[in-house]
Amino acid sequence: MKNWSPSSWRSKPIQQVPEFPDKAALTEVEARMATYPPLVFAGEARKLKRQLAAVANGEGFLLQGGDCAESFAEHGADNIRDFFRVFLQMAVVLTFAGSKPVVKIGRIAGQFAKPRSSDIETKNGLSLPSYRGDIVNGIDFSEVSRTPDPARQEMAYRQSAATLNLLRAFAQGGFANLENVHKWMVGFISDSPQGERYRALADRITETMDFMRAIGINAENHPSLRETDFYTSHEALLLGYEEALTRVDSTSGDWYTTSGHMIWVGDRTRQIDHAHVEYCRGVKNPLGLKCGPSLEADDLLGLIDVLNPENEPGRLTLIARFGAEKVEDRLPKLLRAVEKEGRKVVWSCDPMHGNTISLNGYKTRPFDHILKEVQTFFDVHRAEGTHPGGIHIEMTGKNVTECTGGARAISADDLHDRYHTHCDPRLNADQALELAFLVAERLKKDAEAQPAQKVAAG
Ligand code: TRP
Ligand code: MN
Repeated sequence: MKNWSPSSWRSKPIQQVPEFPDKAALTEVEARMATYPPLVFAGEARKLKRQLAAVANGEGFLLQGGDCAESFAEHGADNIRDFFRVFLQMAVVLTFAGSKPVVKIGRIAGQFAKPRSSDIETKNGLSLPSYRGDIVNGIDFSEVSRTPDPARQEMAYRQSAATLNLLRAFAQGGFANLENVHKWMVGFISDSPQGERYRALADRITETMDFMRAIGINAENHPSLRETDFYTSHEALLLGYEEALTRVDSTSGDWYTTSGHMIWVGDRTRQIDHAHVEYCRGVKNPLGLKCGPSLEADDLLGLIDVLNPENEPGRLTLIARFGAEKVEDRLPKLLRAVEKEGRKVVWSCDPMHGNTISLNGYKTRPFDHILKEVQTFFDVHRAEGTHPGGIHIEMTGKNVTECTGGARAISADDLHDRYHTHCDPRLNADQALELAFLVAERLKKDAEAQPAQKVAAG
């Protein structure tokens, strides 16, 4: 890696950087964190890369989801459990319908820093720094709370460690047992107003489980039925934090960020010669790149050259976030350019960030726009003969009222009821699972429509 070091980003122009008044305190925190144990192990990041390589080759599906922004106030076992419970159900439904492994990545255990459209927020004549996520400053509109505080990075690190610890326990310790997940899913079907629509798929999962049990395949004798691989991810926005957690992997001699398994570059910080791209190009973790409506094909190819020069499948996931109205126009150009140049990437659909609107003074996202963007994403891939590799969503396991619509038809007037997000509106538990069922229907339909060429060719 030419001219790269964990700190080489510091000499590049940078966007979205907080202004810490106490520079000495910042340096001290960063130095201390550089001695802390890594949150993840490089071998795990490599395993994730292999699983994503399968997705890039059309042999899997990526489910990535979680909070827009994690918060210190909402840190607790119940929130983590409820998120994971919904996420696992989504994964089962998608695995079954697509007949392919689902790679499971949370926006969790590190997703704290937020880009903002303005550095300053003004209320009643008072101007203060914008809220940039709990890892930087507080959401309350007061001078004390809004002043960027380096000590928050250590809080975020410790919260991430605790969250990851519980998730690992859940993933490997029995909670993720397919029998459990299946039972929760049956509960969802019987409670959902749209339950009938999903029942056929759910019944087939039930039958398959019964069949396996009858022939002696169960969670006691097959660990793969009771365990799952779950990975963490976040936007690599606060580069001082990432740098402090960047380590050489002793087994390969390569650099990895150990703040999470996968990191991504946001749509606002993807300038090719700027700091965020510079940092990410040097670590070997799987990377994501958010692709918004302003991204041109040539710029995308340039970014792919920098972020994945060896064209390694699984290294780079392109996360399309165009909005339901723009995806049909913007995505094909990028797809064709990437195909033409033979670049191996995972294409994932983020149907959240391009569909944010304002209603009754709340930021919200209509469920039908989210669904429409996903459907169009699948349509475009089908027309181009490429693999719609995954979805990337903002969701919570709680019963919030932040996005409108869904089977329970949350209306503009319901938003105030349980609007808890610190940042963008998230799908609630029912909406997230409903989306998974709708995507599952689509995966099945596309698989059936595909001529079974490979089998026929023997
Ligand atoms: N180990 C398999 C997998 O992760 C099957 C599995 C076990 C699973 N528990 C799960 C799948 C929970 C989804 C959700 O795919
Ligand atoms: Mn967001």
